Amino acid sequence: MDLKNKKVLITGGSAGIGKALIKELAARGVQDIAVVGRRREPLEALQSEFDNVNFLPIQGNVASVEDLDRVVSEVTETWGELDILINNAGVVSAGLLHEVSDEDVINQININVTGLILLTKKALPLLQKSEAGAIMNVSSGYGYIAMPFYSVYAATKAAVGQFSDAMRRELHQYPLHVMTVYPSATDTDMMKTAVVGDMDSADDVARAAVEGLLNKEINVILGGKQREEQIKTNFLEPQKIDEFAVANFAALRERTLKHRSM
Ligand SMILES: NC(=O)c1ccc[n+]([C@@H]2O[C@H](COP(=O)([O-])OP(=O)(O)OC[C@H]3O[C@@H](n4cnc5c(N)ncnc54)[C@H](OP(=O)(O)O)[C@@H]3O)[C@@H](O)[C@H]2O)c1
Repeated sequence: MDLKNKKVLITGGSAGIGKALIKELAARGVQDIAVVGRRREPLEALQSEFDNVNFLPIQGNVASVEDLDRVVSEVTETWGELDILINNAGVVSAGLLHEVSDEDVINQININVTGLILLTKKALPLLQKSEAGAIMNVSSGYGYIAMPFYSVYAATKAAVGQFSDAMRRELHQYPLHVMTVYPSATDTDMMKTAVVGDMDSADDVARAAVEGLLNKEINVILGGKQREEQIKTNFLEPQKIDEFAVANFAALRERTLKHRSM
Protein backbone atom coordinates (compact mmCIF):
# COMPACT_ATOMS: atom_id res chain seq x y z
CA MET A 1 0.00 0.00 0.00
CA ASP A 2 1.32 3.41 -0.95
CA LEU A 3 0.49 5.74 1.92
CA LYS A 4 0.99 8.94 -0.04
CA ASN A 5 -2.34 10.64 -0.86
CA LYS A 6 -4.21 8.46 1.62
CA LYS A 7 -6.90 10.16 3.68
CA VAL A 8 -6.79 8.93 7.27
CA LEU A 9 -9.33 9.22 10.09
CA ILE A 10 -7.98 8.35 13.55
CA THR A 11 -9.66 8.42 16.94
CA GLY A 12 -7.58 9.32 19.98
CA GLY A 13 -4.77 10.79 17.90
CA SER A 14 -4.00 13.62 20.30
CA ALA A 15 -1.95 11.50 22.73
CA GLY A 16 -0.08 8.23 23.28
CA ILE A 17 -0.21 5.51 20.66
CA GLY A 18 -2.57 7.51 18.41
CA LYS A 19 -0.20 10.46 18.26
CA ALA A 20 2.73 8.13 17.59
CA LEU A 21 0.69 6.60 14.74
CA ILE A 22 0.24 10.09 13.27
CA LYS A 23 4.01 10.66 13.53
CA GLU A 24 4.72 7.34 11.78
CA LEU A 25 2.14 7.94 9.04
CA ALA A 26 3.36 11.51 8.46
CA ALA A 27 6.95 10.24 8.16
CA ARG A 28 5.74 7.87 5.44
CA GLY A 29 4.03 10.61 3.42
CA VAL A 30 0.44 10.80 4.68
CA GLN A 31 -0.73 14.41 4.38
CA ASP A 32 -4.42 14.42 5.30
CA ILE A 33 -5.40 13.25 8.76
CA ALA A 34 -8.71 13.78 10.56
CA VAL A 35 -8.36 13.34 14.31
CA VAL A 36 -11.10 12.76 16.87
CA GLY A 37 -10.69 13.43 20.59
CA ARG A 38 -12.71 14.87 23.46
CA ARG A 39 -10.30 17.66 24.44
CA ARG A 40 -9.95 20.51 21.96
CA GLU A 41 -6.53 21.81 23.02
CA PRO A 42 -4.34 18.74 22.30
CA LEU A 43 -6.20 18.26 19.02
CA GLU A 44 -5.41 21.77 17.88
CA ALA A 45 -1.81 21.53 19.08
CA LEU A 46 -1.16 18.77 16.52
CA GLN A 47 -0.97 21.22 13.61
CA SER A 48 2.05 23.04 15.05
CA GLU A 49 3.79 19.73 15.82
CA PHE A 50 3.40 18.21 12.34
CA ASP A 51 3.58 20.99 9.80
CA ASN A 52 3.69 18.63 6.79
CA VAL A 53 0.20 17.30 7.65
CA ASN A 54 -3.16 18.97 6.93
CA PHE A 55 -5.20 18.16 10.02
CA LEU A 56 -8.95 18.04 10.31
CA PRO A 57 -9.39 18.20 14.10
CA ILE A 58 -12.83 17.04 15.21
CA GLN A 59 -13.70 17.45 18.85
CA GLY A 60 -15.98 14.60 19.83
CA ASN A 61 -16.62 11.59 22.02
CA VAL A 62 -16.67 8.23 20.24
CA ALA A 63 -19.31 7.11 22.76
CA SER A 64 -21.75 9.69 21.37
CA VAL A 65 -23.75 8.62 18.31
CA GLU A 66 -24.41 12.27 17.51
CA ASP A 67 -20.67 13.06 17.60
CA LEU A 68 -19.89 10.08 15.33
CA ASP A 69 -22.46 11.30 12.79
CA ARG A 70 -20.81 14.73 12.89
CA VAL A 71 -17.33 13.17 12.46
CA VAL A 72 -18.39 11.34 9.30
CA SER A 73 -20.26 14.41 7.97
CA GLU A 74 -17.17 16.60 8.45
CA VAL A 75 -14.94 14.09 6.67
CA THR A 76 -17.48 13.76 3.86
CA GLU A 77 -17.88 17.52 3.45
CA THR A 78 -14.14 18.25 3.64
CA TRP A 79 -12.65 15.38 1.65
CA GLY A 80 -15.56 13.42 0.17
CA GLU A 81 -13.35 10.34 0.54
CA LEU A 82 -11.57 8.21 3.13
CA ASP A 83 -8.96 5.45 2.78
CA ILE A 84 -7.88 4.47 6.27
CA LEU A 85 -9.87 4.38 9.49
CA ILE A 86 -7.86 3.88 12.69
CA ASN A 87 -10.01 3.08 15.71
CA ASN A 88 -7.52 3.78 18.47
CA ALA A 89 -9.34 5.72 21.23
CA GLY A 90 -9.68 3.64 24.36
CA VAL A 91 -10.06 3.86 28.13
CA VAL A 92 -9.46 1.57 31.10
CA SER A 93 -10.76 1.23 34.64
CA ALA A 94 -9.21 -1.65 36.60
CA GLY A 95 -10.34 -3.41 39.78
CA LEU A 96 -12.28 -6.37 41.06
CA LEU A 97 -15.55 -6.36 39.13
CA HIS A 98 -17.63 -5.26 42.12
CA GLU A 99 -15.31 -2.29 42.66
CA VAL A 100 -15.65 -0.91 39.13
CA SER A 101 -18.45 1.68 39.10
CA ASP A 102 -21.44 1.02 36.83
CA GLU A 103 -20.50 4.19 34.99
CA ASP A 104 -16.96 2.92 34.29
CA VAL A 105 -18.34 -0.45 33.10
CA ILE A 106 -20.71 1.27 30.68
CA ASN A 107 -18.17 3.83 29.47
CA GLN A 108 -15.44 1.26 28.83
CA ILE A 109 -17.88 -0.72 26.69
CA ASN A 110 -19.29 2.36 24.94
CA ILE A 111 -15.89 3.91 24.15
CA ASN A 112 -13.82 0.78 23.46
CA VAL A 113 -16.44 -1.24 21.58
CA THR A 114 -19.75 0.46 20.71
CA GLY A 115 -18.09 3.65 19.48
CA LEU A 116 -15.54 1.69 17.44
CA ILE A 117 -18.25 -0.42 15.79
CA LEU A 118 -20.55 2.53 15.10
CA LEU A 119 -17.78 4.70 13.66
CA THR A 120 -16.76 1.82 11.38
CA LYS A 121 -20.39 1.36 10.31
CA LYS A 122 -20.84 5.06 9.57
CA ALA A 123 -17.48 5.44 7.78
CA LEU A 124 -17.92 2.31 5.64
CA PRO A 125 -19.71 3.96 2.69
CA LEU A 126 -16.66 6.23 2.28
CA LEU A 127 -14.11 3.45 2.88
CA GLN A 128 -15.82 1.16 0.37
CA LYS A 129 -15.08 3.71 -2.35
CA SER A 130 -11.33 3.65 -1.64
CA GLU A 131 -9.18 1.92 -4.25
CA ALA A 132 -6.85 0.60 -1.52
CA GLY A 133 -7.96 1.20 2.02
CA ALA A 134 -7.77 -0.20 5.52
CA ILE A 135 -9.38 -0.38 8.91
CA MET A 136 -6.95 -0.65 11.83
CA ASN A 137 -8.49 -1.46 15.19
CA VAL A 138 -6.45 -1.12 18.37
CA SER A 139 -7.13 -3.90 20.86
CA SER A 140 -4.75 -4.94 23.68
CA GLY A 141 -2.74 -7.94 24.80
CA TYR A 142 -5.63 -8.42 27.24
CA GLY A 143 -7.86 -8.96 24.23
CA TYR A 144 -6.09 -12.33 23.87
CA ILE A 145 -5.12 -13.11 27.46
CA ALA A 146 -7.51 -11.81 30.10
CA MET A 147 -6.17 -11.05 33.56
CA PRO A 148 -7.84 -10.47 36.93
CA PHE A 149 -8.78 -6.83 37.65
CA TYR A 150 -9.30 -6.22 33.92
CA SER A 151 -12.49 -8.20 33.33
CA VAL A 152 -14.37 -5.36 31.64
CA TYR A 153 -11.39 -3.96 29.73
CA ALA A 154 -10.35 -7.44 28.55
CA ALA A 155 -13.92 -8.16 27.41
CA THR A 156 -13.98 -4.94 25.38
CA LYS A 157 -10.62 -5.66 23.78
CA ALA A 158 -11.53 -9.27 22.90
CA ALA A 159 -14.64 -7.83 21.21
CA VAL A 160 -12.41 -5.55 19.11
CA GLY A 161 -10.47 -8.55 17.72
CA GLN A 162 -13.61 -10.50 16.89
CA PHE A 163 -15.18 -7.45 15.24
CA SER A 164 -12.08 -6.99 13.06
CA ASP A 165 -12.05 -10.63 11.95
CA ALA A 166 -15.76 -10.61 11.08
CA MET A 167 -15.44 -7.33 9.17
CA ARG A 168 -12.42 -8.52 7.17
CA ARG A 169 -14.39 -11.60 6.09
CA GLU A 170 -17.53 -9.56 5.43
CA LEU A 171 -15.67 -7.00 3.30
CA HIS A 172 -13.66 -9.49 1.23
CA GLN A 173 -15.00 -8.06 -2.05
CA TYR A 174 -13.56 -4.64 -1.27
CA PRO A 175 -9.90 -3.60 -1.42
CA LEU A 176 -10.00 -2.93 2.32
CA HIS A 177 -7.53 -4.56 4.68
CA VAL A 178 -8.92 -5.04 8.19
CA MET A 179 -6.36 -5.58 10.94
CA THR A 180 -6.00 -5.54 14.71
CA VAL A 181 -3.12 -4.22 16.79
CA TYR A 182 -2.52 -5.84 20.19
CA PRO A 183 -0.16 -3.60 22.20
CA SER A 184 1.43 -4.82 25.43
CA ALA A 185 1.99 -2.34 28.27
CA THR A 186 2.98 0.91 26.54
CA ASP A 187 4.35 4.05 28.14
CA THR A 188 1.48 6.53 27.65
CA ASP A 189 -0.85 8.63 29.80
CA MET A 190 -3.14 5.60 30.07
CA MET A 191 -0.51 3.81 32.17
CA LYS A 192 0.33 6.68 34.54
CA THR A 193 -1.82 5.21 37.32
CA ALA A 194 -0.59 1.61 36.87
CA VAL A 195 2.66 0.25 38.28
CA VAL A 196 4.46 -1.51 35.42
CA GLY A 197 8.14 -2.18 34.87
CA ASP A 198 9.27 -2.53 31.28
CA MET A 199 6.97 -0.88 28.78
CA ASP A 200 7.11 -0.43 25.01
CA SER A 201 7.24 3.13 23.77
CA ALA A 202 4.27 4.45 21.80
CA ASP A 203 6.69 4.86 18.87
CA ASP A 204 7.53 1.11 18.99
CA VAL A 205 3.83 0.24 18.80
CA ALA A 206 3.15 2.73 16.01
CA ARG A 207 6.09 1.47 13.94
CA ALA A 208 4.96 -2.15 14.25
CA ALA A 209 1.36 -1.18 13.46
CA VAL A 210 2.20 0.81 10.33
CA GLU A 211 4.64 -1.85 9.10
CA GLY A 212 1.85 -4.37 9.68
CA LEU A 213 -0.50 -2.21 7.64
CA LEU A 214 1.98 -1.99 4.76
CA ASN A 215 2.59 -5.77 4.88
CA LYS A 216 -1.14 -6.48 5.20
CA GLU A 217 -0.68 -8.33 8.47
CA ILE A 218 -3.93 -9.36 10.10
CA ASN A 219 -2.78 -9.25 13.71
CA VAL A 220 0.09 -7.11 14.95
CA ILE A 221 0.98 -8.54 18.35
CA LEU A 222 3.45 -6.64 20.50
CA GLY A 223 5.49 -8.49 23.12
CA GLY A 224 7.54 -10.73 20.85
CA LYS A 225 7.76 -14.51 20.60
CA GLN A 226 7.09 -14.91 24.34
CA ARG A 227 3.70 -13.23 23.95
CA GLU A 228 2.82 -15.44 20.98
CA GLU A 229 3.67 -18.52 23.05
CA GLN A 230 1.49 -17.26 25.92
CA ILE A 231 -1.41 -16.76 23.52
CA LYS A 232 -1.07 -20.37 22.32
CA THR A 233 -0.93 -21.58 25.92
CA ASN A 234 -3.99 -19.51 26.83
CA PHE A 235 -5.91 -21.12 23.96
CA LEU A 236 -4.76 -24.72 24.37
CA GLU A 237 -4.05 -24.94 28.12
CA PRO A 238 -5.86 -22.03 29.82
CA GLN A 239 -5.37 -23.61 33.24
CA LYS A 240 -1.65 -22.78 32.95
CA ILE A 241 -2.50 -19.08 32.62
CA ASP A 242 -4.96 -19.50 35.52
CA GLU A 243 -2.07 -20.84 37.61
CA PHE A 244 0.08 -17.84 36.64
CA ALA A 245 -2.74 -15.44 37.56
CA VAL A 246 -3.25 -17.14 40.94
CA ALA A 247 0.47 -17.13 41.72
CA ASN A 248 0.70 -13.43 40.85
CA PHE A 249 -2.71 -12.34 42.18
CA ALA A 250 -1.46 -10.24 45.11
CA ALA A 251 1.26 -8.53 43.07
CA LEU A 252 -1.16 -7.81 40.21
CA ARG A 253 -3.66 -6.43 42.69
CA GLU A 254 -1.01 -4.10 44.11
CA ARG A 255 0.12 -2.85 40.72
CA THR A 256 -3.37 -2.18 39.38
CA LEU A 257 -5.11 -0.77 42.49
CA LYS A 258 -5.22 2.78 41.14
CA HIS A 259 -5.21 2.03 37.41
CA ARG A 260 -7.87 4.19 35.83
CA SER A 261 -7.75 6.31 32.67
CA MET A 262 -11.25 7.24 31.54
N1 LIG B 1 -0.94 2.14 26.88
C1 LIG B 1 -1.03 0.83 26.96
O1 LIG B 1 -0.34 0.16 27.76
C2 LIG B 1 -1.97 0.07 26.06
C3 LIG B 1 -1.86 -1.33 26.01
C4 LIG B 1 -2.73 -2.04 25.19
C5 LIG B 1 -3.69 -1.38 24.44
N2 LIG B 1 -3.78 -0.01 24.50
C6 LIG B 1 -4.83 0.62 23.71
O2 LIG B 1 -4.24 1.56 22.84
C7 LIG B 1 -5.16 2.62 22.57
C8 LIG B 1 -4.48 3.96 22.83
O3 LIG B 1 -4.09 3.97 24.20
P1 LIG B 1 -3.04 5.02 24.79
O4 LIG B 1 -2.24 4.29 25.78
O5 LIG B 1 -2.39 5.77 23.69
O6 LIG B 1 -4.05 5.97 25.60
P2 LIG B 1 -3.92 7.51 26.03
O7 LIG B 1 -2.51 7.91 26.10
O8 LIG B 1 -4.77 7.63 27.24
O9 LIG B 1 -4.62 8.27 24.80
C9 LIG B 1 -5.96 8.03 24.52
C10 LIG B 1 -6.41 8.89 23.38
O10 LIG B 1 -7.78 8.58 23.10
C11 LIG B 1 -8.59 9.74 23.23
N3 LIG B 1 -9.88 9.33 23.76
C12 LIG B 1 -10.12 8.65 24.90
N4 LIG B 1 -11.44 8.47 25.07
C13 LIG B 1 -12.04 9.03 23.99
C14 LIG B 1 -13.40 9.18 23.61
N5 LIG B 1 -14.38 8.73 24.37
N6 LIG B 1 -13.67 9.78 22.43
C15 LIG B 1 -12.66 10.27 21.66
N7 LIG B 1 -11.37 10.18 21.99
C16 LIG B 1 -11.06 9.57 23.15
C17 LIG B 1 -7.79 10.66 24.18
O11 LIG B 1 -8.10 12.03 24.00
P3 LIG B 1 -9.22 12.77 24.92
O12 LIG B 1 -8.96 12.33 26.34
O13 LIG B 1 -9.01 14.21 24.66
O14 LIG B 1 -10.52 12.27 24.40
C18 LIG B 1 -6.37 10.38 23.73
O15 LIG B 1 -6.09 11.11 22.56
C19 LIG B 1 -6.37 2.36 23.46
O16 LIG B 1 -7.38 1.73 22.71
C20 LIG B 1 -5.83 1.42 24.52
O17 LIG B 1 -6.84 0.61 25.08
C21 LIG B 1 -2.95 0.72 25.29
